[in-house]
Amino acid sequence: MKKSFLYFFALLALVSCGGEATAPQRGEDPARAANFDKTYPIVDSLLRVMTLDEKIGQLVLYTSDWDVTGPSIRDGYVDDIRAGKCGNIFNAYTAEYTRKLQEIAVNETRLGIPLLFGYDVIHGFRTIFPINLGISASWDPELIRQSARIAAREAAAAGLHWTYSPMCDICVEPRWGRISEGAGEDAFLGSAISRAMVYGYQGADLSDPMTIAACVKHFAAYGAPHAGRDYNTVDMSERWLREFYLPPYKAAVDAGAQTVMASFNEYDGTPATANAHLLTEILRDEWGFDGFVVSDYTGIMEMINHGTSKDLEEASIQALNAGNDMDMQSGGYDEFLKKAVEEGKISKKTLDEAVRRVLTVKARLGLFEDPFRYCSAEREAAETKTDANLLAARTLAEESCVLLKNHNNILPLKQGTSVAVIGPLADSADDLLGTWRGAGQVDGVKSLLDGIKEMAGSVTYAPGCDVEKEGQAGFSQAEYAARKASVTVMVLGEPCDWSGEAASRTSIKIPEVQSELLKRIAATGQPIVLVLMNGRPLDISEEVELADAVLEAWYPGTMGAEAVARLLFGEASPSGRLSVTFPRNLGQVPIYYYAKNTGRPYVHPGAKYESRYLDCENAPLFPFGYGLTYTTFSYGKPELSADSFGPKGSITAKATVTNTGSREGTEVVQLYLRDMVGSVTRPLKMLRGFERVTLAPGESRDVEFTITPEELSFWRKDMTFGPEAGEFRLFIAGDSSAEDFVTFTYNE
Ligand code: NOJ
Repeated sequence: MKKSFLYFFALLALVSCGGEATAPQRGEDPARAANFDKTYPIVDSLLRVMTLDEKIGQLVLYTSDWDVTGPSIRDGYVDDIRAGKCGNIFNAYTAEYTRKLQEIAVNETRLGIPLLFGYDVIHGFRTIFPINLGISASWDPELIRQSARIAAREAAAAGLHWTYSPMCDICVEPRWGRISEGAGEDAFLGSAISRAMVYGYQGADLSDPMTIAACVKHFAAYGAPHAGRDYNTVDMSERWLREFYLPPYKAAVDAGAQTVMASFNEYDGTPATANAHLLTEILRDEWGFDGFVVSDYTGIMEMINHGTSKDLEEASIQALNAGNDMDMQSGGYDEFLKKAVEEGKISKKTLDEAVRRVLTVKARLGLFEDPFRYCSAEREAAETKTDANLLAARTLAEESCVLLKNHNNILPLKQGTSVAVIGPLADSADDLLGTWRGAGQVDGVKSLLDGIKEMAGSVTYAPGCDVEKEGQAGFSQAEYAARKASVTVMVLGEPCDWSGEAASRTSIKIPEVQSELLKRIAATGQPIVLVLMNGRPLDISEEVELADAVLEAWYPGTMGAEAVARLLFGEASPSGRLSVTFPRNLGQVPIYYYAKNTGRPYVHPGAKYESRYLDCENAPLFPFGYGLTYTTFSYGKPELSADSFGPKGSITAKATVTNTGSREGTEVVQLYLRDMVGSVTRPLKMLRGFERVTLAPGESRDVEFTITPEELSFWRKDMTFGPEAGEFRLFIAGDSSAEDFVTFTYNE
């Protein structure tokens, strides 16, 4: 029995080597996985011999008990693997453990089909980069790609084949804790980042054992829950969905992402898990996605709670028929698909297609050639937290921090200055790693306090208070420390588990006790540098007034302490720019830069019947794209290569950017467009280009952008996608509040 199985497996392995390449059809980018469009004879061979049970097993994904990322565990998952009932495992890693499970699948099941191992490698695996909202503030897709590359190498060396990343959910809702996992509010920036992450994970060849498959999530519109409460209802027009929410998912699919995760929420009354419009019409028919779709954690079972399935059996049938190929953790496919196929509620063709997609991804990963190619203990040791990985993490952490205020150029501090470090988060290394920290360990990670100690002269630390518990007993000691030092660095914000999954808040302020502490220290009149740690845009209106400088550090990762210290003491200069608007208060939410003009824009100060608030101005505290550094920049008026262009043409827009200060610095030059008249209303600004530019003091550079019909395109009145003739305004500036523009015309 065993012998014949081995022979069969060897035979399959043999046919698999001759994978036929078909001509690439989409995406010419050289970084896109080369074998994305390959088909594999082994998949057909397997489909011919697999029993119904074996096929269903390939559509089942269970968590191991190695790690827990959801509400349930399936105790018998090892027996399920052995019985061929579970072809995919998540939350299991290390070369040793994945090898152990893989041996069961390969040696103890009839066909020996290898397991696929998935995990949430979200902003690093062992070397933890800043949280994704922080990463996006770097506006540096190339460095982001490298961070994903590093994450892939570390994860692949620990036996993993598949990451549940990139998270492509656009979000304008700071109450939602998962805003920390995405790239902010904008579809253009979000697309650049999701594309970069897919290239980083999947590399140029998915069968290279240093690469892992990406998973585009959470499809779709999970970032728009009503009232910011996680898992809550989503409702938006198809037009809004397509224009402002879908592009980053599509960019990731176009980049070759192998898998997509359906989101927990409903869209247009149907849970995404069984939403054929999303999973089949848009994803496969329109976008040509040929990988597989996986549900989110118990997403299929949750359709009973949504109220669109009477039981798990019905939910499972609805999900598979809608295009959801793999069941994460509900157990419904395992339990009910056989009966459903036998009763004709699911066609053999639908089942086979789903199985084919899963097996094809396994083939693309090279698992049929060598199921153990990812399980190498030596490689695991060699790849983990190397010096190069840590340096990349430090650089990305530096680029992620956003300098929001720097009154009187209090920053950078002089090395050797006496510093009071105050605030309960200052000595927490753990919080630096943020939510979804993969297999990141806190051992060896420095706290911000440790980092500051390495650069300051004398340092006195006083936490002052607890992170959230009321109690001012430590205030006096903190005040004393502040009075004694030349400058106070206060580290305030949210503990890291206040963002991420199931971490919504109704307040977006820092905990009151910390705010009170800041007031008390500010009353001393001593200079204050406020370092913020948080996973969402916060209402920091009061805090910004009280501090002399404010550095938004998010949760900066394994090398966060070193990075923040280098920024504070001028070894590096801040270059991050907000990827999400910071409101003045929660009442302004949702607030985003691509607002529309409305019929009554607020243009006459004090006017009653215009779109405004009685108790707050319309403008945010800090706009999208905003951030300071230790020098200043000026912009010349943009010059256009022509005043107009048509369908086959393009124009270039050029602006001279000058470093007007006395230090080298990096500016993120941003291009925005406004379509003045459309068949449907258009946003006041749309980001359509950006470039990071580093200039020496006094240096000028011409920054150039090309505008083609694509940059002007949108979902027109008739729901076709394309540009419309007319006048456009073009802005080139350092953030989205820019007012100076030049105009051009697009002719049909
Ligand atoms: C639920 C989360 O929504 C998703 O992002 C994650 O990938 C899965 N759990 C697996 O852990």
